[in-house]
Amino acid sequence: MDKLIVEGGHTLAGPLPVSGSKNTALPLMAAALLADGVSTLSRIPDLRDVKTFANVLRISGAAVRFDEARNEMTVDASGVNYPEAPYELVKKMRASFYMLGALLGRCGRARVSLPGGCAWGPRPVDLHLKGMEAFGADIRLEHGYVVAEAKDGRLDGGVFRMDPSSVGATINLLLASATARGPSRIENAAREPDVATFGEMLRKMGASIEGLGTDTIEVEGVDALSPVHFYNASDRIELGTFMIAAAMAGEPGRAVRLTDAAPEHLGPAFVDAFTETGAGYRPGNDYVEVTAPDELQPVSIETAVYPGFPTDLQAQWTVLLTQARGNARVRDTVYYDRFKHIPELHRMGANAIVVQNEVFVAGGKPLQGATVMSTDLRAGVSLVLAGMVAEGETHVLRVYHLDRGYEDLDGKLARAGVAIRRVQYDEFANPSGNEPPEE
Ligand code: EPZ
Repeated sequence: MDKLIVEGGHTLAGPLPVSGSKNTALPLMAAALLADGVSTLSRIPDLRDVKTFANVLRISGAAVRFDEARNEMTVDASGVNYPEAPYELVKKMRASFYMLGALLGRCGRARVSLPGGCAWGPRPVDLHLKGMEAFGADIRLEHGYVVAEAKDGRLDGGVFRMDPSSVGATINLLLASATARGPSRIENAAREPDVATFGEMLRKMGASIEGLGTDTIEVEGVDALSPVHFYNASDRIELGTFMIAAAMAGEPGRAVRLTDAAPEHLGPAFVDAFTETGAGYRPGNDYVEVTAPDELQPVSIETAVYPGFPTDLQAQWTVLLTQARGNARVRDTVYYDRFKHIPELHRMGANAIVVQNEVFVAGGKPLQGATVMSTDLRAGVSLVLAGMVAEGETHVLRVYHLDRGYEDLDGKLARAGVAIRRVQYDEFANPSGNEPPEE
């Protein structure tokens, strides 16, 4: 198993390149199943989740070729003949549940395992299932699988209002409704850029969709979609992560450049909070320049669906608050228990207290390097950020969580001035050499 060893106190000089968006790449791959032919996807990041999902597509009969070095993927969906997504793969990654919408849209039926996904909290899919029923699917739950059937092989379409707004359910319902017999409307739809970019691919394939990026999306079903060549968006969460890193570990007054970026996808809530810390923010059309301030100001935030502050950046923001002089709080209104990184930050000396879905942070005390455990993707990267500014060495264990969503993170940071290296380790090593304790 791999861990990352980070030695604190080194200046992040940059530049840092931002990779293609994980949370957009996955729905783009699902969309390719809807067309009988070969689609090409560019700027697909070399991530574990992408490889896992490529295997899920292969099970259905699609031929997937991924050129990791060129971040280019082809999906030949002409051979889709097995409308199933098995538990063994779906349990590894929740986004595999997009197979429900893709297979219903392409084949008129689907048998998809209920998802697993991140370690934290219940991750329901009730909105996905109710929406499919509203669009005319018969849905049954059998032995841990969702069995879905469109009457006489094609969905009718319909109207569905979701509460709360759900990124995944919006994507799944667009996958299912694009080739439905009649019109569909999704109310209180997700407005995330991931959804809008994915919807643009469907439109390029021939789908008739209006309202992407708003909370009401109208779809006119079409008979068939055509394969396309489509460019993935830049990863807005990786961009936000790197901005926070630069605000904390950059040399005060010296700009750090983040390249291949899409600053327009950050949303106003994050940008406003970021500039309130005193960090310099200068966006270009495909880059962002961040300048660390002499002293970070504490800024409280509350997450919300887009264009609110992204929940996927709340753990990283908490680490920034440990470096600001003063008290502030982070409240997550999207997930109520996404705080598994806090006990690990305590090991590094952070003053942070979780009360229900809020964490209160008293900043200004230096963190100490320690051995800490990644529990999920964003918690893991927040520990790397903490290690960058801690005194001494931090060993971040179970780096496979990070490899799910950050392409070559240690390589990028090392090339930008951070003292970070990846080493193998044995979780059950017995450093003492004495007789191991009885099980
Ligand atoms: C997507 O997950 C992202 N994953 C998550 O990023 C992100 O945290 C989340 O959106 C919110 O922005 C991908 O895009 C692959 P939701 P998703 O459905 O679609 C509730 C990362 O780190 N809900 O928008 O699963 C749910 O409990 C990952 O990259 C229902 O109640 O999120 C939550 O409270 C982690 N019923 C809220 O909606 C449902 O049927 C938002 O969830 C579905 C969701």
